[in-house]
Amino acid sequence: VSKGAAGPTERGFIGVGLLGMGVVGTGVAEALSIHGSFLQESVGLPLKLQGILVRDAGRSRSALVDSSLITTQSKDVLENPEVDIVIELMGGEDAALPAIRGTLADGRSVVTGNKEVMAKHGAGLLAMARAKGASLKFEAAVGGAIPVISALERGVTGARVRALRAIINGTTNYILTRMAVEGMAFEDALSDAQAQGYAEADPGNDINGTDAAYKLAVLATLAYGSPVSPESIYCEGIGHLTPRDFRYAHDLGYAIKLLAIAKEIGDGELDVRVHPAFIASDAQLAKVDGVYNAVQFDSDSAGELLLYGRGAGSGPTTSAVLSDLIEVARRLTGHGGPQSRQTPGTGSRVRPIDELDFRYYLRLTVSDQPGVLAAIARILGDASISIASVIQQEVDETAGSAEIVITTHRARESALRDATGKLTALDVVREIGSIIRVEE
Ligand code: NAP
Ligand code: HSE
Repeated sequence: VSKGAAGPTERGFIGVGLLGMGVVGTGVAEALSIHGSFLQESVGLPLKLQGILVRDAGRSRSALVDSSLITTQSKDVLENPEVDIVIELMGGEDAALPAIRGTLADGRSVVTGNKEVMAKHGAGLLAMARAKGASLKFEAAVGGAIPVISALERGVTGARVRALRAIINGTTNYILTRMAVEGMAFEDALSDAQAQGYAEADPGNDINGTDAAYKLAVLATLAYGSPVSPESIYCEGIGHLTPRDFRYAHDLGYAIKLLAIAKEIGDGELDVRVHPAFIASDAQLAKVDGVYNAVQFDSDSAGELLLYGRGAGSGPTTSAVLSDLIEVARRLTGHGGPQSRQTPGTGSRVRPIDELDFRYYLRLTVSDQPGVLAAIARILGDASISIASVIQQEVDETAGSAEIVITTHRARESALRDATGKLTALDVVREIGSIIRVEE
């Protein structure tokens, strides 16, 4: 804040700058325009929008928001001395990271929904905020309306989190639910999720698991007090799943969900991964459908705990941004509590997926001829992979092919990888359609 500039109390209001007025930014701008008095009651001073940065000046915007606030010049927001708090809702790293850094370097506070920036640069930015006496809040970055960041910052389980399993991407959960329940095509379900404002600007990040991996990096870092980088997280998306996998999953008593998992596994190591998984259909996470997200903690003192709510979309995400905004604003007016615990400690090793053991579901298309099953069983047996069940249901007589579905007992990922290489090389195996881990 520039020297000699009036602070919020002398000025009589808290100035807010907004970066981005898309799906979430519009919700926030409308809430600040409409619910000013409610927010004033919570904070003690009015919160006034001072400027809104966008990229495209010609785009039509909400009629509820004063259009004179909209600018394409970042300095109008970032260099405005009457902006005390910057809300960053542009997404991505390119424009967002320097804007957040510059704001914190000025000693001003930031609220963001940017999981990419927090996953990649969170530790450094939080250190900068602490050094400058500013706040950096990011509840909207994970889980939409679910207050999972503040839960972790406050130590919700009262003890160490042994494991967290989460559904933290609304777009993919929406797609998987519609594919499973209505047999909807992948592309139709994705278009619908985009139209509802759930998907990222690049929906590839939702589909290939990157968005969930960013969020998991943020959660695991908070849960284990140890920086977990997104690059260290094994990540697999949902693009290869087919309606047949959902049918087999159902018949075997499972649901398929894109899970984000972080567990302590001893010796200072963590198991941290994002991939589609079979989960028992009576498990709580199996019942989390549509755009809903859930984070399940397993801790020694609290036992199991499930946080559940809408994980994407304008309204739920706006609520998370506003709760952070109120907290930061209350601190500025001297009514806030202390800064929350956000200091990562030293590193834990993330154990590579190849060194972990899972049960697997395999779906193979094979030539319909004698000895095929025996050849497959031999390769799995030689790799010490024990078969738990086999289904051969579908036979395409014209193509002379059959479909074999195998579930295995626990086996080492590296062994499964070697075995699937050998299976693919068999003349009688036409395709390995799916390999999905079973989360027990
Ligand atoms: P969005 O709809 O794509 O909106 C992005 C906004 O930022 C647009 O107004 C865009 O301007 C502006 N913008 C982007 N790059 C800019 C630049 N370089 N300079 C100036 N303005 C720029 O995104 P969103 O869905 O609201 O998401 C915003 C953030 O919230 C992202 O970090 C996202 O991951 C996070 N988030 C989103 C959701 C959700 O459900 N959508 C939920 C949780 C968190 P124009 O309007 O001119 O294009
Ligand atoms: N694209 C994200 C999702 C938005 O679908 O979960 C919420 O972070």
